[in-house]
Amino acid sequence: MSFQIRPLSDALGAEITGIDVSRPLDESTFAAIHEAHLAHLVLVFRDQQLTPQQQIDFSQRFGPLDVHPSQGKAHLEGYPDILVISTKRENGRDVGIRNAGPKWHSDLAYRERPALGSMLYALELPDRGGDTGFANMYKAYDALPADLKRAVDGKRALFHSTRSSIDARHPIIRTHPETGQKSIFVNPQLTTGIEGMDAAEGDALLNMIYFHNTRRTFIYWHQWKPGDLVFWDNRCVQHIADHTRLDDPDYIRHMHRTTIAGDVPF
Ligand code: OGA
Ligand code: MN
Repeated sequence: MSFQIRPLSDALGAEITGIDVSRPLDESTFAAIHEAHLAHLVLVFRDQQLTPQQQIDFSQRFGPLDVHPSQGKAHLEGYPDILVISTKRENGRDVGIRNAGPKWHSDLAYRERPALGSMLYALELPDRGGDTGFANMYKAYDALPADLKRAVDGKRALFHSTRSSIDARHPIIRTHPETGQKSIFVNPQLTTGIEGMDAAEGDALLNMIYFHNTRRTFIYWHQWKPGDLVFWDNRCVQHIADHTRLDDPDYIRHMHRTTIAGDVPF
């Protein structure tokens, strides 16, 4: 099966059209998708119509799935592998996680094995707002000023989840296990400090890196269309949700997420 690949920005991202991922994909098609994902970091599959099981089956082609700590409360009924990201409320309760990305982050970075990647499938979208930002952490590493590179070289950072009190330590600069490229792994949502540095010194260094990481040339803002399935590589991409309308009752945004398990960063 052949499909079309169109880059979405100079930072990262490509749109994939002419493929229906609900169907079983042969090995060569899968290999082409895998290669495109490593090259573009974020793939946007347009016009998909996926049942929860079809999303799970496609996600599992990339590896075993991971269960998010909130999944106990926020998973789709009958599908523990699907995390609901939604502004909807039913019977006075949130049906999923309202805001999964208040700050820049990569998913499950506080785990010993952070996620390889996540797939987010748009089911209902607001008429405006609710975009997702994606930042290329290879580019951020490559452009990091030499003094900052030296300051973090060989150092590890601490990560913590407020939702689950899980902690982990990972290299600030990690090497992608498939491409061999280096990227910046610390982020303002889940990183809490630098190992072996006092808090003020560590925070000052981290804040300089966070500021650097959000240079416009590293970022692509995705404006969702119904039927988009977006697959990002958590090992070299950070993301954030733009939820400025979160308190507006007309702001309905409803999505299903699957998460592919990753390796220990090095
Ligand atoms: C996520 C996440 C961002 C968004 O699902 O991991 O951060 O735009 N989502 O909903
Ligand atoms: Mn996320």
